[in-house]
Amino acid sequence: MKKTYLVTGGAGFIGSNFIHYMLQKYQDISIINVDKLTYAGNMENLAEFENDPRHCFVHADICDKDAMKKVMAEHNIDYIVNFAAESHVDRSISNPEIFVQTNVLGTVSLLNCAKQAWQTGEDTFKEGVKYLQVSTDEVYGSLGAEGYFEETTPICPHSPYSSSKASADLFVKAYFDTYKFPVNITRCSNNYGPFQFPEKLIPLIMNNTLQHKELPVYGDGMQVRDWLFVEDHCKAIDMVLNNGRLGEVYNIGGHNERPNIFIVKTIIEYIRQNVDSSVSEDLIHHVTDRKGHDRRYGIDPAKIKAELGWFPETPFEVGIKKTLKWYLDHKDWMAHVTSGSYQEYYKKMYGDQ
Ligand SMILES: NC(=O)c1ccc[n+]([C@@H]2O[C@H](COP(=O)([O-])OP(=O)(O)OC[C@H]3O[C@@H](n4cnc5c(N)ncnc54)[C@H](O)[C@@H]3O)[C@@H](O)[C@H]2O)c1
Repeated sequence: MKKTYLVTGGAGFIGSNFIHYMLQKYQDISIINVDKLTYAGNMENLAEFENDPRHCFVHADICDKDAMKKVMAEHNIDYIVNFAAESHVDRSISNPEIFVQTNVLGTVSLLNCAKQAWQTGEDTFKEGVKYLQVSTDEVYGSLGAEGYFEETTPICPHSPYSSSKASADLFVKAYFDTYKFPVNITRCSNNYGPFQFPEKLIPLIMNNTLQHKELPVYGDGMQVRDWLFVEDHCKAIDMVLNNGRLGEVYNIGGHNERPNIFIVKTIIEYIRQNVDSSVSEDLIHHVTDRKGHDRRYGIDPAKIKAELGWFPETPFEVGIKKTLKWYLDHKDWMAHVTSGSYQEYYKKMYGDQ
């Protein structure tokens, strides 16, 4: 049976990679992509599917109940994958409210619309439907030098961003516990890959290095993140949608822990060897550390490996080269994003929807 996916935030970094992954993998699916197109949403990420009847774009806010009810009434949705979020920690420190609005209220609103659309009885829902909340390892807080986040690790977020994601997770869990609403939550580590908005570490450092600009590094740069190639994340989400046990949380990560300063130096070295031999680590500029900056994240992916057979297929050394090459090969994309002209692209292609 042909499946219909409602993907929210599909014009962002991971959402657009997920749409690429799914439309390349499956011929007989349709994807309804709902995105508000904030500064982080870029329809150029999906240019490949402009004329593909399997991809239908709806310009809407997940907080807009009427719009979301309309989408669910017009399409026979089987799966909802909620990527839509404000996702940048620094922005959450300067403006927490929009994070509560989209990440918490938007999630609850979406859950409620889906519950109404899928309900068949008191505690029963249409056969085979599922809501998947794309969450983050940041909800667990920070680790010391030892140990890993397991699904049973208590939630202990520190930033307004991670607190909003943790709140959303609790509502998703509440919908399962209270109504038996069919859900999964995935908590993934830091992603890297194509189409990431250049406020985030890898494209930011890449862009600045190419332009011989200072490379801002928070504090000593020894904050450790568990880096996962975005395609491996997309594959995990697909597996959880298909075979994840209802109500369960699945951690996704690859035991690929690297300090931020290592990532920065890797990028400089790649550019030095492949593009411009004059760049050096002299561009690194240590700046005052982010408030409440978590020191180390590390995921234990044992559960998703054991239950669903998922593992990270892309070694960091391969994934990072692929990623950096992608940005070099897509200088127009980067130029449009950094100049803001990517927002015009949508109007040209879709009019004033
Ligand atoms: N980037 C990571 O490393 C990472 C890791 C783990 C989990 N996550 C989670 O994955 C999801 C996607 O992250 P990302 O890095 O792709 O983010 P992103 O900022 O690149 O994309 C977010 C997308 O959501 C859209 N959006 C924002 N508010 C909306 C709203 N109210 N209604 C509809 N659309 C809205 C934006 O326009 C954008 O297209 C987020 O939920 C994030 O918490 C990200």
